[in-house]
Amino acid sequence: MEFKIERAKQLKEKPVETKLGFGRHFSDHMLVIDYTEGIGWHDGRIIPYGPIEMDPACMVLHYAQETFEGLKAYRHTDGSIALFRPEINAQRLIKSNERLCMPPVPVDLFLKGIEELVKYEQDWVPKEPRTSLYIRPFCFATESGVGLHPAKKYKFVVILSPVGDYYPEGVNPVKIWVEDEYVRAVKGGTGFAKCGGNYAASIAAQVKAEQNGYTQVLWLDGVHRKYVEEVGTMNVMFLINDTVVTTPLEGSILPGVTRDSIITLLKDWRVTVEERHLSIDELMEAGRTGALKEAFGTGTAAVISPIGELHYKDETVIINDFKTGKLTKKLYDTLTGIQWGRVEDPYHWVK
Ligand code: COI
Repeated sequence: MEFKIERAKQLKEKPVETKLGFGRHFSDHMLVIDYTEGIGWHDGRIIPYGPIEMDPACMVLHYAQETFEGLKAYRHTDGSIALFRPEINAQRLIKSNERLCMPPVPVDLFLKGIEELVKYEQDWVPKEPRTSLYIRPFCFATESGVGLHPAKKYKFVVILSPVGDYYPEGVNPVKIWVEDEYVRAVKGGTGFAKCGGNYAASIAAQVKAEQNGYTQVLWLDGVHRKYVEEVGTMNVMFLINDTVVTTPLEGSILPGVTRDSIITLLKDWRVTVEERHLSIDELMEAGRTGALKEAFGTGTAAVISPIGELHYKDETVIINDFKTGKLTKKLYDTLTGIQWGRVEDPYHWVK
């Protein structure tokens, strides 16, 4: 598919790169591709960033047939621009769409759309340390009607946002509230899919954590409220003695690109990784005895976010004196080094 291009009449002033924050500024153009049952994906276009007209009965507004992705473009020191494992995002979107009964966006179309939009908007890829261009592809049902069935029309849209750190804490430890009332997902639900509904349902717990003075929540499984699942919007890993423990991919957690990359790095460094169920009781006990050496969340937006404190019921444990651990730091430096082209990339992750 060739994309039509309509250039914005007026380009925006670029934000100051040292004060970007996360997801507050958007580039001048976006990619839009329509889908109609019987025709497939059609009318791909790069157009000025702006409102999308919708019928009030548009199905996504009622039944949330919506999926999204998140990846980043990085400015290397030679001025070139790199993407990080974008084909994994393309494949994950296909799985998310399948779960929500939405048509797949072919991998080639996903990659071509992102590459062409990023190239067109290349001036928006920031240069300052720890900045990147966050790429947000998303798909949603556009058919009008309030009867519940898979829609026959969709849009695939990509928008771009120059970003700095996700958390104001940057790569410093955050305080985590262990949530034992609300749950994020259950097996058989949509936990493995990247769909807006999962995130909408998580906000109440995040607000509760913030009201209690915590940055994010640690989710427990939805059946027993016993096993650790994810942290906020990220996968979670714990260094217990000399083993890294993380939740297995069994349907209720997101198969993170950062999670997979970290596991690959750890295995190459001969660090033992156990993908297994970890109960909150075992975790708190490891915190009490000091066996819990480090803990961190992994995700595209924040990359690696160290956990300095866990609060569960009436107990608080502090991890590594509330300092970023050595392994956490080495993982952050290596992964971001590969992404920004400062560290050799033996895995050919950077495209
Ligand atoms: C990401 O890490 O890319 C996410 O999608 C999380 C989102 C809340 C920014």
